[in-house]
Amino acid sequence: MSVATAAAPATCTLPVLGRDVTVPLVTGGEVTYAALDYAASAPALQRVWDDVAAYAPYYGSVHRGAGYLSQLSTDLFENARRTVAEFLGCRAGDQVVFTRSTTDSLNLLAAALPADCEVFVFETEHHASLLPWRDGRVSYLNAPRTPRQAVATLERALADRAPHGPALVCVTGASNVTGELWPVRELAAAAHAHGARIVLDAAQLAPHHPVDIAELDVDWVAFSGHKLYAPFGSGVLAGRSDWLRAAEPYLAGGGASKTVARRPDGGVDVEWHTTAARHEAGSPNVIGAYAIASACEALTGVGFDALVEREQRLIAQVREGLAAVPEVRVLSLFGDDAPRVGVLSFVVQGWNSSHFAAALSAEYGIGVRDGLFCAHPLVRTLLGGDPQEQGECGAPEAAPGTRALNAIRVSFGAGTPDEHVERFVRAVRELVRGGARWSYRTEDGRCVPDTTVA
Ligand SMILES: Cc1ncc(COP(=O)(O)O)c(C=O)c1O
Repeated sequence: MSVATAAAPATCTLPVLGRDVTVPLVTGGEVTYAALDYAASAPALQRVWDDVAAYAPYYGSVHRGAGYLSQLSTDLFENARRTVAEFLGCRAGDQVVFTRSTTDSLNLLAAALPADCEVFVFETEHHASLLPWRDGRVSYLNAPRTPRQAVATLERALADRAPHGPALVCVTGASNVTGELWPVRELAAAAHAHGARIVLDAAQLAPHHPVDIAELDVDWVAFSGHKLYAPFGSGVLAGRSDWLRAAEPYLAGGGASKTVARRPDGGVDVEWHTTAARHEAGSPNVIGAYAIASACEALTGVGFDALVEREQRLIAQVREGLAAVPEVRVLSLFGDDAPRVGVLSFVVQGWNSSHFAAALSAEYGIGVRDGLFCAHPLVRTLLGGDPQEQGECGAPEAAPGTRALNAIRVSFGAGTPDEHVERFVRAVRELVRGGARWSYRTEDGRCVPDTTVA
């Protein structure tokens, strides 16, 4: 593994770190690493890295220091909040809470729900959206096969609920499995028409599309810095403040508390903040928040029109490349014409997906993901039927017709050079036509090159 210092390829929209990293091939030699797993974690933008590096010497405590650097860091943190609010088109009165991730944001919201709040969530969601609602008042909605069916399914479910009580709908903006866009505006309208609120899981949408909370008319938006080219440990929950203000602090501790005093009976009285700080107890991650703000500015600076246009070209290239290989089946909920972001999952007839992904890595230097992508119900639905053995790792000649147990996901974005996508399409074609050139074995449940073979 080595890091060269070549100039950024002119073919990507925004320069990212790692673009010159080379990795060894099991068949010999090295290639530049093709990071095609943006949906899991995107590389840091060069701009984000530069901003963080420029700030690092001035790093100081936030909200808790009289020194110059503490003041500067506090300003930076609060400015980051304003930048994110602007990026998301927040309304007057909305709060931007810095969290650790989308998962953390949705768990925070789940903890802040009014006691008798019902929750509606499609079974197709990422586990981060599917699982935080634990109190038995959650309804899981069946997988729709069209965006229109999604709206109809939600409307039916909401119409059936007892009126008057609070309700929340949780929906993804773009699927982390298929990349398909969900009809967020229509779902928000349906939710509001039935007196429910809606939170948008924008983990996969925000890096690819503008997300405007007011225009979409959603009540909250959650996303993660590490998928938005800012991998410094922060995420965001933004939106209406009333439920957040009324809830117990997500974490109890310093920063969330305004005043604390001993009571004569020996206990303590606490007055909690009613601002975003209420749910940000402990020392804030100023670098994480600043990195997100920097990424928001970089994305806005280059403009989503340009980002979307180029990404759509890459998507078309991948889809055409995969369509030319009859053994490949691309997974889709809403069909070929559905608008989508640069996230595609597929299976290859006769191949164990883990084996295929391992060969892409070991023989082509391409990083993708295989598995069920933390969306088990959706992937199982898309794979179809009862799961059967897919073929062992190292034995790609599984019987034709054998169903896949899991899938392969390729994903890309603003930092992806054309060459990575071209290499991926060529690699799929070559692997399917000619097979793997190396032997693989299972180790700790993963398919890996068998390096004991000469
Ligand atoms: C749609 C979606 N929601 C939520 C998450 C959870 O994000 P995080 O792991 O950053 O909390 C992911 C992560 O892959 C995702 O794809």
